[in-house]
Amino acid sequence: MLWETSLLDPEEGIRFRGYSIPECQARLPAAKPGGQPLPEGLLWLLLTGDLPTPAQTASLSAELGRRAGLPPHVGAVLDALPADTHPMTALGAGVLALQPRSAFAAAYQAGTPKGRLWESALDDALDLLGALPALAARIYRKTYHAGSGPLEIAPLKGLDWGGNLAVMMGHGGEGARELMRLYLTIHADHEGGNVSAHASHVVGSALADPYLSFVAGMAGLAGPLHGLANQEVLKWLSDAQAKLGGSPGKAQVEAFVRATLASGQVVPGYGHAVLRKTDPRYTCQREFALKHLPGDPLFALVSSLYDVVPGVLAAGGKVKNPWPNVDAHSGVLLTHFGITEATFYTVLFGVSRAVGVLSQGVWSRALGLPIERPKSTTMDALDAQFGVKA
Ligand code: MLT
Repeated sequence: MLWETSLLDPEEGIRFRGYSIPECQARLPAAKPGGQPLPEGLLWLLLTGDLPTPAQTASLSAELGRRAGLPPHVGAVLDALPADTHPMTALGAGVLALQPRSAFAAAYQAGTPKGRLWESALDDALDLLGALPALAARIYRKTYHAGSGPLEIAPLKGLDWGGNLAVMMGHGGEGARELMRLYLTIHADHEGGNVSAHASHVVGSALADPYLSFVAGMAGLAGPLHGLANQEVLKWLSDAQAKLGGSPGKAQVEAFVRATLASGQVVPGYGHAVLRKTDPRYTCQREFALKHLPGDPLFALVSSLYDVVPGVLAAGGKVKNPWPNVDAHSGVLLTHFGITEATFYTVLFGVSRAVGVLSQGVWSRALGLPIERPKSTTMDALDAQFGVKA
C-alpha cells in the first residue's frame, strides 16, 4: 500500500513526512512558546510535505475556523439516537449526516475528470475537519451532560482547532487545551496499515467521497483491538486502583498484572502489531504528565505499570512487543483534566485520525491510486496447492 503521510519504524516509531514526534514537537508551531504543537501545523505538514511557518499554521487554523459549525439537522440526528448510544456510533451517524454536502460527490456526479477530484477531496477534508470538533463536542455534551448544561458551547473566536475542541466540550482551561493539542497531534496518523487508515483507504479507492471513507475508518477505530483500547485501558486502571488502593507497591502491582494474565485477559495498552519498542506517543504523553501532573495518583499507577509490565510480559516469552503503546497513557491525562468519560476517548482519537486519513485521501486521488481489490482464496484452494487442510 502506498501511504505518503507517515511511515512507522518498528524500533523508532512514527515519522510524519519524515519527522519523528520529538522533531515535530520542536519544529511545529505552538500556541505559546514551549507549548504543545498545534495539530493544524501537522495537517499542513501532512498535506504539503513541508513544515509550516507560524503564519501558515495560523492561516490554516483560521480556514478551519471559517468552516466550523454544524448544520441544524446534524443535532437533530444525534438527538434522535437512544440515550445509551455509544459515542463512536453517534460520530458515524453525525459524519453521515454531513455527507450530503460533499463537494467530491457533487464533482464526481458532474463528470469532473478523475485527475482533478483531489481538489474537491481537499475541500471536503477541510470542511469535515472544520466541523469535527463541534460534532465531537455535541456528542460529548449530549451523552454525558444532557440536562446539566447546554448541549452546545460556542467556540472562541480566533482560538485554534484543538483548543476550541476543549472549550466546546466544556473543559476550556489552559491545561485541557494544551492536552487536546498534544492528543490531536500524536494520534493523527500511523502509516497506512492500521485498521482505521486501511478501511478509509480501501473505501476511498472505490471513489466513495471523503465523508464515506472517513466513516469506514471510524467503524474500524471503534473496535477494541484498535481505537477502543484507550477506553479499555482506563477501565482496567480504575479496576486496579479500586483493588490496590492509593499508592500500591511494586509487588502488589505485579500481582495484579499476573492475575489479569492468569484470567486469560491481555494487559490493555501494551504490545503492538508493528512497534517493537516503547511507542514514542507513550513517551511524549509521559513527559507531558511529568510536567503537568507529577503528583497524580493515577499517573503514579501508570508509571508503576511501566516498571512492571514489560518484564512480566517478556518473561512469559509469548509476546513480540512487551512495551506500552499510545493507549496506555492517554486516559490518565484526559481524566486529570476532567474528561473522565472513558467511552468518549475513541471519539477524540477519531477527530485526530481524521487529520491523517483525510490528508492521505487527498493524495490518493491526486496520485490516481487505483481501486484496492486483493484477490481472495479458499481453504480448498490452499489445500489443493499446499496441502494445508490437515
Ligand atoms: C494506530 O495508531 O493506528 C495504532 O497504533 C494501531 C496500528 O498502528 O496498527
